[in-house]
Amino acid sequence: MTPNEQSISAARKAAEQWATRDTPFIFDEWYVLGFSHEFERTLVKRTVLGRDLVFFRTEGGTPAAFDDRCVHRSYPLSRGTLDGDTLVCGYHGFRYNAEGNVVEVPSQKSCPKGLGVHAYPLCEKGPLVWVWMGDPAEADEGKIPDQSWLTSSDWVTNQGYMRMEANYVSLHENLLDLTHLSYVHAKSFGTPDYASAPYQTTVEEGYFMLERHVIPTRLPPVWAKSTGLEDCANAARVAKSEFLSPALHETTATFYDNDLPAESRPEFSARTAHIITPESKTSTHYFVVDGRCFATDEDWITDFMHEQLLVAFKEDIDALEALEVTLENWNRPLYEFSVASDHASISMRKYLKKRADASEVKLHRRLHEGCSVPPASLNQHKEAGAAAK
Ligand code: FES
Ligand SMILES: [Fe+2]
Repeated sequence: MTPNEQSISAARKAAEQWATRDTPFIFDEWYVLGFSHEFERTLVKRTVLGRDLVFFRTEGGTPAAFDDRCVHRSYPLSRGTLDGDTLVCGYHGFRYNAEGNVVEVPSQKSCPKGLGVHAYPLCEKGPLVWVWMGDPAEADEGKIPDQSWLTSSDWVTNQGYMRMEANYVSLHENLLDLTHLSYVHAKSFGTPDYASAPYQTTVEEGYFMLERHVIPTRLPPVWAKSTGLEDCANAARVAKSEFLSPALHETTATFYDNDLPAESRPEFSARTAHIITPESKTSTHYFVVDGRCFATDEDWITDFMHEQLLVAFKEDIDALEALEVTLENWNRPLYEFSVASDHASISMRKYLKKRADASEVKLHRRLHEGCSVPPASLNQHKEAGAAAK
């Protein structure tokens, strides 16, 4: 039975305030462009928020990223070559310095002044290189969420990358909706008691948290083996999921034997930084750094945990890609119904919508003021295939 017309129209009205796959990207934000080790002495092309970028590292070790389009005849700069700290276009040889300015035109003696491409502000922190996609004048590194645990000696970490053929909003929502563990992850790290376990949420401007207490439970292999709680029938699993920015979500899980006294029981914590960089409307770069702060010298746990977590994250990707196809194929007005456990994710989606609306206003204002940086939202909705690297 389909819901009655009144309910459908109420659901549609509510959804007008939330970000969806059709919501423009948020440009005034730091996103991860790549892992530090990807910035080497070669040119790498990557599409971010619908814009093609080329990135590399200078001889002095500084990362650099430009629009991947030569100012002469639009040849992709990523098809050029690096010569010292300059990039030479592979078509007619215009030479760019590390700031994106043309410093040589081989067909003439004098170099025209004021030619160049947009060079994006970058910030390298630990294993990540962040890119500011908005107005460079507003690139405040203080806005990058603190991720100092990634370089702390208390944590041992591992990293991975997956490309997802789905919109980034759905990944944020997935991470704030832990009820899916019992279903999407039934064969990996979900357990049947997860979906109905008690939870708390925190909703603040730009910060959304959901914490679930699954007690008592039996831990799935990834956590049972790595913590040694394999035989524990009264284990505790406390899972916290935090939206830290449109580019970053963090999940932390703590495990212990619930039969032991709180003052003296060992507790085991594992954490993952879910680093979410939109590529196009229908594709997302999904970087992960997973870590733990127990048994840090046990290399087998590092490998085992990483391998098992990637299996689970691929289950998320599989689910979200299926969702994306369903939405793409749905050719009638859409409606979706929410339940109480969606509270944190709905609040988060309203925040994304608000940020996206503000970003759009700024982009259009810059366009009308004749700014050289084009409003990339105008070309962000390119097809996933065309946007793929
Ligand atoms: S297109 Fe780059 S130099 Fe001509
Ligand atoms: Fe998941």
